Amino acid sequence: MIYSRVVGTGSYLPDRVVTNRALEEIVDTNDEWIVTRTGIRERHFAADNQNASDLAVEACKRAMQAVHVHPGEIDLIIVATSTPDMVFPSTACILQDKLGIKHSVAFDIQAVCAGFVYALATADKFIRSGSAKCALIVGAEVFSRILNWQDRGTCVLFGDGAGAVVLKASNVPGVLTTHLHTDGSYRDVLCTPGTVENGTIRGSPLLTMDGGAVYKFAVKAFEDVAWEALNANGMQPAEIDWFICHQANRRIIMHAAKKLDLPDEKVVLTVDRHGNTSAASIPLALDTTVREGKIKAGDNVLLAALGGGFAWGAALLKW
Ligand code: UT7
Repeated sequence: MIYSRVVGTGSYLPDRVVTNRALEEIVDTNDEWIVTRTGIRERHFAADNQNASDLAVEACKRAMQAVHVHPGEIDLIIVATSTPDMVFPSTACILQDKLGIKHSVAFDIQAVCAGFVYALATADKFIRSGSAKCALIVGAEVFSRILNWQDRGTCVLFGDGAGAVVLKASNVPGVLTTHLHTDGSYRDVLCTPGTVENGTIRGSPLLTMDGGAVYKFAVKAFEDVAWEALNANGMQPAEIDWFICHQANRRIIMHAAKKLDLPDEKVVLTVDRHGNTSAASIPLALDTTVREGKIKAGDNVLLAALGGGFAWGAALLKW
């Protein structure tokens, strides 16, 4: 039996740090509101010459260095992004070239903030079927490029960054199960509707969100999808060692954790340091926890994410 295992992690945040106080200078907001409502203290914004693929390159190099994997071993690259470098080719193609990888399949996945879990689930199936042996799974975003600075309800929430994992074939289970869901009837609740048409942009190219509606849906979805993953593996919440939820809002994460009866020390929170980085948030949080030496061999790690669409999902990993 072939399984897939995460063997290395890496992440990258661009140099420019934007604190809540800095946002007070340009938006009618304040540090106290942002911290209490979301848990966010600062976010990072990419430099003008940095695209999603540039952030992804750094995250991938760190993940590959962590396990001494060289570019020639990579046979699959999946990039989850909603802020690609260009309309086409895919950011994964651009990343492949920038990493000097010659013989891999490379494509993007678009599931917004659930993108990393979707990419991981897809790569797991490639590896289990024998179609790939060593994959780079990446979440990379430059949401600073699509923020509406006239909308204080959204522009203070997001940041840029990238996270990556190396996923390898193994005869020992790593990715235990993955669970994906989509309900497109909510597509207008969180979206960036603009598109390119005949050389101009049709519709708004900026992010819009009904935050309250997302909040309400998210807490229930996280609870349900976590139970789905637990039930599929015959586990109880007490057997989860680490809960790594999409880092959008501290209150949503803690609410979901409380519903699952998970103690605070098992809940990973990095949203204070980078805000909502969409598809990059889970691999950023995962890499931070790994590099802090917290996740030990044999630990059960539950990933859960939700984003525009709505698209949501979970992955249960044995470390
Ligand atoms: O990544 C995809 C998933 N996305 C999410 O998970 C986001 C989900 N939603 C949320 O995280 C929350 O709904 C928000 C953080 C977006 C908003 O929090 P909230 O507690 O739902 O606040 P609200 O939208 O109900 O706004 C409450 C008040 C309003 O004032 P009034 O009408 O009560 O006087 C807003 O105008 O807060 C005001 N407000 C702000 N005040 C200062 C909204 N944005 C700001 C701001 N600074 N940036």
